[in-house]
Amino acid sequence: MAPVLISPLNVGHIDDVQELTKTKPRSIPERFVRDVTERPQLFSGTTSPSHSDMPVIDFSKFLRGNTEEFQVEILKLASACEEWGFFQVKNHGIDQKLLESIEEISKEFFMLPLEEKQKYPMIPGTVQGYGQAFVFSEDQKLDWCNMFALAIEPHCMRNPNLWPNKPERFSETLEEYSREVRKLCQNLLEFIALGLGLMEDAFSEMFGMAVQAVRMNYYPPCSRPDLVMGLSPHSDGSAITVLQQATGSPVGLQIFRDKTWIPVQPIPNAFVINIGDTIEVLTNGKYKSVEHRAVANEEKDRLTIVTFYAPGYEVELGPMPEFVDENKPSKYRRYNHGEYSKHYTTNKLQGKRTLDFAKIHQSENSN
Ligand code: OGA
Ligand code: NI
Repeated sequence: MAPVLISPLNVGHIDDVQELTKTKPRSIPERFVRDVTERPQLFSGTTSPSHSDMPVIDFSKFLRGNTEEFQVEILKLASACEEWGFFQVKNHGIDQKLLESIEEISKEFFMLPLEEKQKYPMIPGTVQGYGQAFVFSEDQKLDWCNMFALAIEPHCMRNPNLWPNKPERFSETLEEYSREVRKLCQNLLEFIALGLGLMEDAFSEMFGMAVQAVRMNYYPPCSRPDLVMGLSPHSDGSAITVLQQATGSPVGLQIFRDKTWIPVQPIPNAFVINIGDTIEVLTNGKYKSVEHRAVANEEKDRLTIVTFYAPGYEVELGPMPEFVDENKPSKYRRYNHGEYSKHYTTNKLQGKRTLDFAKIHQSENSN
């Protein structure tokens, strides 16, 4: 029998999705079956909307100093952020072996026996550890996904009890990977700043002790992917997010664009990057954090390793003066990022609703 997690919140019984697929591969418990209006539209090869035009940024062009190539790529990045909120980054310079290692240890972790993984439980209402995040009530639908999430930086946010001692080299590999991805995030934020006409250190100056967290998402195959959701629609509460998809995984990520959900076809060894809520607020909505979700697959499992990079919790944020004028009044109030994070992690994922926290409503905005 699948174990019951005891928590101070009344979230009811939470089935472990991997165990479900092992023991009752054809049964989809009611709690995973979405209401008709929330079910994913699945695309077959012929009905799939075009996805090949998601911008691809060649990171190596940023490394050649302030050349014309550099400027062209900065403009391309700026337009990707403004028009898409999502892009892929190739030639990012992170060793392919490291990408393979993080994939391997993540997969090995998810393949451990349940009892082993449950030594690192995600207590409902919190976001670190193994389990299902963002579950707050008994009647809430569950995602077809197992997650393992850890805070990386600043160090004081780590909960050492949640860092697994199996598989071997887990911590070492995650540490090395996170260092590299952190540098990539910092560099990308510099280039994003330049593309916005800001000083390159505009974001790093503002972010203080930037927060970095990682979440490994494991989506087991599902006999009825048309009824369930891999990961509920949401925008990310980060400044930017870096997503790595394990080699051989089927397409699963979808972004909401022009009122439809379009699948993202990952490029091997590239990262999928997206703008999070912080950048939307700082740019007063010039760049938007686009809603996205993940769908399940009937035959194949899927693994993603997702890094969230965000300002320090002590930081006060609001639209930057550069993006506010008479014609473009502030759409968001100033707030403390720690409070925003708390708001984000203590509410269920529901599209872009989390940003309501900071939105100024039109009527308050009219003088
Ligand atoms: C996330 C996310 C998508 C995926 O973890 O925030 O959007 O494909 N993941 O796993
Ligand atoms: Ni996301």
